[in-house]
Amino acid sequence: MIREKYYCGLDLGAQKIKAGVLKVKDAAQMELAGIYEQKTAGFCDGAVSDLGELSDCVHATVHTLLQKTNLKLREVQLGVGSELIEVRAGGTTIPLVERTNKIITRRDIKKVNDQARLLSLKMDEEILHDLPQQYMVDEVNKALNPGGLYGRKLGVQSLMIFTNANRIRNIVRAVHQAGYEVPNVFFTSYAACEVALDGTERTQPKAPPPRGTSGRGEGRILIDIGAKATSVLLFQDNILRRLKKIEIGGDAFTRRIAEQLSLPLDLAEEIKRSYAATLEAYHSSDEEILVKRDSAYKPVKGKDICAAIEPRIRELLENVQNVLREFGVADELETGIVMIGGGSLLTGLIERLSQATRHPARLAKMNVVSARSPGNAALFSGVVGLAKSGFKQSLRYALSPDGHWRANLLNRFRELYHEYF
Ligand SMILES: Nc1ncnc2c1ncn2[C@@H]1O[C@H](COP(=O)(O)OP(=O)(O)OP(=O)(O)O)[C@@H](O)[C@H]1O
Ligand SMILES: [Mg+2]
Repeated sequence: MIREKYYCGLDLGAQKIKAGVLKVKDAAQMELAGIYEQKTAGFCDGAVSDLGELSDCVHATVHTLLQKTNLKLREVQLGVGSELIEVRAGGTTIPLVERTNKIITRRDIKKVNDQARLLSLKMDEEILHDLPQQYMVDEVNKALNPGGLYGRKLGVQSLMIFTNANRIRNIVRAVHQAGYEVPNVFFTSYAACEVALDGTERTQPKAPPPRGTSGRGEGRILIDIGAKATSVLLFQDNILRRLKKIEIGGDAFTRRIAEQLSLPLDLAEEIKRSYAATLEAYHSSDEEILVKRDSAYKPVKGKDICAAIEPRIRELLENVQNVLREFGVADELETGIVMIGGGSLLTGLIERLSQATRHPARLAKMNVVSARSPGNAALFSGVVGLAKSGFKQSLRYALSPDGHWRANLLNRFRELYHEYF
C-alpha cells in the first residue's frame, strides 16, 4: 500500500513569511492540505537581523499551519527570495579519453557538471540551482542529453543560481532553533513554476519553428512581483533559460503613496490595497476617500492615489520591457506572461503590463487539488511549489524496493564496460 507523505514549504519573503503543506501520494496525486502567512520578523534586507525573532516567527508560522492541518512534521522545504540570489552563466569542457572515442556515460555528465559548478562558485557562495542548458560533444555536437553518444570531449553550459553561504546558514539556524530540519533550500520564484505553470505551458511542442522565424519566441514568462523586487523568468523546453531581477517591488508603490500624500507607511499600505489602481479610469472623476490624519479625517481623491504611484508603475513596466528585449522575446512570445507575488495584485497592473508588452498576461492559477480554498495563487504558488520541489528532490535519492537497484547496478556495469572497452 502506498503511504501518503506530507511536505511543508516555507517561503521567507521580505514582507510576509508563508507556509503551505502538500499531501503527496505520488507524482500525479497531490493535494494542498493548508496554507498560512504572517508578517516577517527578524529578517531585513536579505539577512537575519535578529536570530531569536526570526526563529519565533518561523515557529509561529509553521506551528500554526500544523495545528490548522492537524499534522506533525519535522522538516520544511525552505525558499528564499530574490534579495538572496545571484544568477550567472557557467560552463566548462572536459576531455573524455586521449585518443579514441568513447560512449558518454552518466558519470561523465556528472563530472562535467561538477567541474562547471566548481569553476563558477565564489568563496562565500553556495549553489541553489544548477541548470544545464546544453551539452557540447567534441565542441560541435549540441545535445540536451549526451548520454550514449560517442565523443572525446564533453562540454556544458549552465545557468546557475547562487546564494550567500553565511546568510543561508543563519536563516537555516533560525529554522533549526524553531524546531524544524531543512533538507533543501530553493529559490522561491523558481520553485513556484512547479504549480503556477502547468506542464503544457512549460513544455513547448518540439515541432520545428515555422520557416523564416528563429523559434526564439517560444516559451513562457513568469513574473514574481514581491515586496522589494521583481523577478522575471523565461522557461523554454521545460528549462529555466533566463532569470533577471528588477529592483522595484510592491513596497515602492506604498512608499510613493506615503510620500506624496504625507501618510504613515502602514496607512499608505492599507490605501494601496483598497484604493490604488494603475489606471485613473478605475476611479470616477471626483471619488474621494476619507483617511485619518493627525486624529482628523481628510479627503483624498482616488485620482491622486493613482497619480502618486504612476511614475513607479512606468519604471517597472519599462524595466520589464527591457528584460523581455534582452531575453529576445519582446516581439514573439507564444504563450504569454503569468504573474505571481503580492505586488501583482495591485488593481489594473496586469492589464497595464499586457498593454505595455503587447503579450497576454494573467494571474497564476495554482495547478494543484485542494479540499479547502487554495488561497490566493499569487501569494501561495511559492510555498506550494517549494513543497512539490521537496517531494521531487526526495524522489532523486529514493531507491525504490521493487527492483530498481538491479537496474542501477546493471547500468553501472554497462557504464564501466563502455569506459574500459
Ligand atoms: N491586494 C494587494 N494589492 C496591492 N498590493 C498588494 C496586495 N497584497 C499584497 N500586496 C503587495 O505585495 C507585496 C508583498 O508581496 P509578497 O508577499 O509576494 O512579497 P514577499 O514574498 O514578502 O517579498 P519578496 O518576494 O520580495 O521577498 C507588498 O509590497 C504588498 O504591499
Ligand atoms: Mg516572495
